[in-house]
Amino acid sequence: MTGKLHQIFVAALAIAGLIGAGVVSAGQKKVDLPKDHRSWKHVRSTVIHDKNNPLFGFLSIYANPKALKTPKRDAPYSEGSTFVGIFHDVVDKGGIMTQGKRLKYVVMTKGSQYESTGGWGFEAYDAEGKTALVKDAKAECYQCHTQVISTDYVFSKFVK
Ligand code: HEC
Repeated sequence: MTGKLHQIFVAALAIAGLIGAGVVSAGQKKVDLPKDHRSWKHVRSTVIHDKNNPLFGFLSIYANPKALKTPKRDAPYSEGSTFVGIFHDVVDKGGIMTQGKRLKYVVMTKGSQYESTGGWGFEAYDAEGKTALVKDAKAECYQCHTQVISTDYVFSKFVK
């Protein structure tokens, strides 16, 4: 490879790396989908069976140990607190509602780098948990979550 070509190749690799790391996507910092979230505490479930509702699905919410350590629900969550929501299809068989196939994931993680969205990083992933779906976290996620500023942008209350 000639010197010039090599330079171009290296630059292309660097850009590909940045995109891969999510740094380039609309200037937002990437929020990973934590691999171990199914072993976290299950916080609550919500079924929204109206297909026209943007939150349609059988939603199960999990919280990591850091989030659960927050002493009061209305206290600010500590750095690293993370919630994962899994949306499944709603299967209604004569009033018995069960989870169908997985539709997508949502994740929220607390960190000072996400200052512009209330100190929470927001991301959504496809059913495989591979492709990040959020282009503008402020408009697509944060704005609706500002309804619950008093509980640090978190809707869910732990269900005993
Ligand atoms: C239209 C309003 C709305 C929008 C838009 C929205 N959410 Fe939520 N979100 C909610 C509600 C309501 C709940 C609580 C559901 C329940 O009752 O279990 C929730 C719950 C969550 C939770 C579990 C923690 C919590 O706050 O209870 C996560 C994680 C989450 N949303 C992430 C996201 C992400 C990421 C996006 C953007 C892709 C998003 N949300 C967009 C309303 C919204």
